[in-house]
Amino acid sequence: MSLFLGIETTCDETSAAVVKDGRIVLSNIVASQAELHEKYGGVVPEVASRKHFEVLLPVVEEALEEAKIGIEDIDGIAVAKEPGLPPALSVGCAYSSGLAKGNDLPLIKVNHLEAHISAIWLARDKDELKEIPYPYLCLLASGGHTELRLVTDEKTQKVIGKTLDDAAGEAFDKVARILKLKGYPGGKIIDEMSELGDETRYDFPRPMIDSENYDFSFSGLKTAVQRELKEGKSDHDIEGIKDENVKKEVMKHQKRDFAASFQEAVIDVLVSKTVSAAVDLGVDAIAIAGGVSANSRLRDKMGRECHHRGMKLHYPELEFCIDNAAMVAARGSEI
Ligand code: KG4
Ligand code: ZN
Repeated sequence: MSLFLGIETTCDETSAAVVKDGRIVLSNIVASQAELHEKYGGVVPEVASRKHFEVLLPVVEEALEEAKIGIEDIDGIAVAKEPGLPPALSVGCAYSSGLAKGNDLPLIKVNHLEAHISAIWLARDKDELKEIPYPYLCLLASGGHTELRLVTDEKTQKVIGKTLDDAAGEAFDKVARILKLKGYPGGKIIDEMSELGDETRYDFPRPMIDSENYDFSFSGLKTAVQRELKEGKSDHDIEGIKDENVKKEVMKHQKRDFAASFQEAVIDVLVSKTVSAAVDLGVDAIAIAGGVSANSRLRDKMGRECHHRGMKLHYPELEFCIDNAAMVAARGSEI
């Protein structure tokens, strides 16, 4: 049996976790800075790093306590080293390095993106452990990255395509800001709003959906939403409405339809390109990982498409999709 302590401070979540045998999560404490960054409409690196510094020690203590172990029971420490916001990730790296030295423990520095992929294995209980045979094609979609990776074994991942501009999560966050939505992160808010919206109302482009490669592009989509909001039929519908309450209600519906139509365009591209890449490569299993893998429409559409083609779909439990330290501990015990 091995016990790993994971530490994650690459962006706006301060997290510590204890994971047994690389797969079973005994604790996963995530202190979100969502409220702090909501004020600024995005993550300010220096503000994030100050907050990590303030809360990391209590978060680690809580993770050990919840796992009912002490630092002396730990076999190794894993910390996410890159990619991330330099001032933020240096807090986790400096702290873990001190903790490892002080307790004579090995320190494993893991790649944050590889850790996201390891999240698909995580379970709270050994009865929930999954069988995930290699190879599989992983769509890794987060706030900073959108990539397709062919995973052939624990150690080998090959990037076969990536975004040429904005990441999928970044597009969600930017459109949430354009629509002036309250709450954070934007992707989650759009996901929730879209459930009540009409995804066929606005016909947004599906960038690069038929391109001859496995790359993505999302910045034009954001511009299309902006343009439609300014010049499109949205304005015509509310013109002439005198009653303020009615006007508000119509605008609320429009926002939902905007959100749902935008989300549909992103998800169509992600699903279509991932599935056709898997077909080209002759791989019969797909995984989705990263913050955007929490998206309900992505899970639904990718699930249906995989089912239709006799492919397997793997994704992390919801709590392990967005940044967390359990995935870092899992990756640390793999490599
Ligand atoms: O992996 P993650 O927590 O952080 C990075 O490594 O970037 O991903 C955060 C991203 C944000 O852009 C957020 O808006 C998006 O994941 N996200 C979602 C959902 N939940 C989080 N996007 C779409 N639907 C969701 N339910
Ligand atoms: Zn992440």
